[in-house]
Amino acid sequence: MIMPNTIDMKKPTQAPATASEQHVPRPVQLVKISAVGTAVPPGLLTNEDLTKIVDTTDEWIRTRTGIVQRHVVAKGVASSDLGAEAAKQALSRAGVAPTDIELIIVATITPDMIFPSTACLVQHKIGAKGAWGFDLNAACSGFLYALQTGVQFIASGVHKKVLVIGADIMTSITDYQDRNTCVLFGDAAGAVLLEGSSSADDGCFIDFLHEVDGSGGHLLQLPAGGSLNPASHETVEKRMHYLRQDGPTVFKFATLKMSEICNRLLARNGLTGADVDVFIPHQANKRIIDAAAQRIGAAPDRVIINIDQFGNTTAATVPMAMNTALEQGKLKKGDLVLIGTMGAGLTSGAALLRWG
Ligand SMILES: CC(C)(COP(=O)(O)OP(=O)(O)OC[C@H]1O[C@@H](n2cnc3c(N)ncnc32)[C@H](O)[C@@H]1OP(=O)(O)O)[C@@H](O)C(=O)NCCC(=O)NCCS
Repeated sequence: MIMPNTIDMKKPTQAPATASEQHVPRPVQLVKISAVGTAVPPGLLTNEDLTKIVDTTDEWIRTRTGIVQRHVVAKGVASSDLGAEAAKQALSRAGVAPTDIELIIVATITPDMIFPSTACLVQHKIGAKGAWGFDLNAACSGFLYALQTGVQFIASGVHKKVLVIGADIMTSITDYQDRNTCVLFGDAAGAVLLEGSSSADDGCFIDFLHEVDGSGGHLLQLPAGGSLNPASHETVEKRMHYLRQDGPTVFKFATLKMSEICNRLLARNGLTGADVDVFIPHQANKRIIDAAAQRIGAAPDRVIINIDQFGNTTAATVPMAMNTALEQGKLKKGDLVLIGTMGAGLTSGAALLRWG
């Protein structure tokens, strides 16, 4: 990890040199989010709409998940389209030209296709000539993992401007015959521009903590379409190209893990939930968010929740929630922000930053 566990907000820090770098220590550049952008398709799928598709009720969905509606794409709209739209908005808000971007990282589990990567398609769509990029798959923790990856490239002095995008068209892998899962997901994208920061007052990332546990990989997965189960008549007939989930087990993992990883990150930085000005959790289920916030000790008015409007948009939830926080005036310069995620993998993650 390049970022130190605890950061002196006033002093620039030195990178801990690895064995191979001992003779060329590099200064660590502080890194901040300088703009946020989002893309939400206009199509709506309400709880009422879902009652006409599967055996469910608006009341069940609201009380068990907190979701009221989700946005869904029209046929032919892909993750790269939403990702590019969100990226363009972030760039325009920052007043930065696409040609100034050096690296594009797209977190997604619904790439336009297996290859080329969605990052390549976004690069072309936004006109980021000369940039390089790649996709990163960590499901609902994907944006946070991509965020740390992007931060390292700036902190280490390799790049100056990095776009990190979370984009998912979850409706492309949702089984609308399965009431257990089809009520949960929606489509969206969010993007942030990462740049160097002159001081902690200007905003900066403080620390990240991530963890995966592949022993739970079977609990939430898309069984077919990869090298294990390539597409065939059989995989289609068995509906294996749709996501499958053991909801109650994932629910238990999520409620415990998201708070645990956030609390560990806070503790190693000498902080508690009471120090957090804004808690941005992954939006999977309002009950999961409420439980996590309570275990962290984050006051309800500091917790950002927009799952009612968008459902679970997987890699897009964190930047979408950042945008909601900004729109609602809840995220201000100088705020200590805690981000927490968990998802398929099983993955979990947390980040601490000072908003600039
Ligand atoms: C999916 C989830 C909302 C289900 O809520 P739950 O309270 O655990 O409900 P259960 O799965 O125990 O199901 C309770 C009952 O509701 C039923 N049910 C499930 N979906 C339903 C729906 N859409 N409408 C009505 N009833 C439904 C179940 O069939 C079950 O009925 P049964 O008792 O007759 O078998 C919840 O488990 C969850 O949020 N899991 C984590 C999902 C998640 O976050 N995934 C992404 C991780 S990033």
